Amino acid sequence: MSDMNLDKTAQSILVENDQGGYTIPTKGLYPYQWNWDSVFVALGFATFDQDRAWREIEMLFEGQWRDGMVPHILFRKDDPSYFPGPKVWGTDGGPIPSSGHSQPPVAATVVRDLVEGDRSGKALERARALLPKLMAWHRWYLAYRDPQDLGVLAVMHPWESGRDNLPDWDEALRAVEIRDVEPYVRKDTSHVDPSMRPHKDDYDRYLSIVAAGRKAGWDPEKVAATCPFFVADPGVTFIFLRANRDLLKVAEALGADAEAKEIRGWIQKMEKGATTLWNEDLKAHVARDLRSGKLTDGISSASFLALYAGLTDEPVLSSLQGHFDRIASKVRYLMPSYDPDHRSYEPLRYWRGPVWAMINYMIARGFADAGDASRAERMRADTEALIETGGFAEYFSPESGTGAGGGAFSWTAAIWLTWASPSRADQAA
Ligand code: DGY
Repeated sequence: MSDMNLDKTAQSILVENDQGGYTIPTKGLYPYQWNWDSVFVALGFATFDQDRAWREIEMLFEGQWRDGMVPHILFRKDDPSYFPGPKVWGTDGGPIPSSGHSQPPVAATVVRDLVEGDRSGKALERARALLPKLMAWHRWYLAYRDPQDLGVLAVMHPWESGRDNLPDWDEALRAVEIRDVEPYVRKDTSHVDPSMRPHKDDYDRYLSIVAAGRKAGWDPEKVAATCPFFVADPGVTFIFLRANRDLLKVAEALGADAEAKEIRGWIQKMEKGATTLWNEDLKAHVARDLRSGKLTDGISSASFLALYAGLTDEPVLSSLQGHFDRIASKVRYLMPSYDPDHRSYEPLRYWRGPVWAMINYMIARGFADAGDASRAERMRADTEALIETGGFAEYFSPESGTGAGGGAFSWTAAIWLTWASPSRADQAA
């Protein structure tokens, strides 16, 4: 298919997955509104319908909890094709039935992008309405995912990281006792080849953590103190640090001085805190289990997001360039979600090796910001080739380029439209 046709197909995927103002990631496997999916989707809509792009984010924030949290899934209508649904979560924190934890906070970055790319003259008005909501969500993250004020953010569930079965979680997850789990039937493996999904043993523990959250009444203070899984995540931490820099620009553009001052304090704290995730043996940032204190021993695609977070000083930049080149010599397509030299790498199992388009996009932005245009372009060209080879799949094999997981996937379509398509690259040049 020609790239012009791929542009059209990508648009039609977004339109077909649109449920009337919010977009599902894909039919069957993920039939609700997912937090970071929606935010990337807004970027895709912005290439042909800016009003619809804002709507996506505004509808996500309609589900914001009273305590500021923006949930990872909004269950706007019950759909038996997904498990675990609203009954299993048992939450009561906001106006829309939802899951009980959050997901990577990309929204402030995309709000800034929408403001800067605006053609309507109405963007600042819409950003002004979102600013207090974004502030409340960011305050929530700092209060309840960094209760010890370390300057790094933890996730209370692998699902909160958005990178569910990442090898970084293995050890902390094995320490979670399987308990309070009613007999259940998974739905994901009826939509997708089980060899591309997490194992049953992972799912038992995922559900045990949900049970622990339910037991804590989803009170975020109790969750932070008692949850059996609490791991500082370089992915969420770097996305949040970047989001704060972008939120600062939005606050400044709106003349919100008090907010801007508060955000500057967050940035300073996180720049310092991020150094505690640096693994000197690997020369990269990794996860840290905040219950055991242990750092993990592998490089994930999120290690590269240090640059996206603005951490470009040496030795970070040159170490990541070295890892980039080493990994590029091992696989055909960058960036595998886990280091192909690590014992846990699996090229087709979800977050244990496959390439994800929206992570590639963020990694490329980081390299571009660090002045490394050639590695940024390599990321774009690989993402273009993957989509041309594997279609608008959920994720791709870094070795063969095969598309895997769900098909007609919204964020893959959105990333194509906003960045990977040659027609976008021509416009940006
Ligand atoms: C799932 O159901 O696999 C999702 O990744 C949870 O967010």
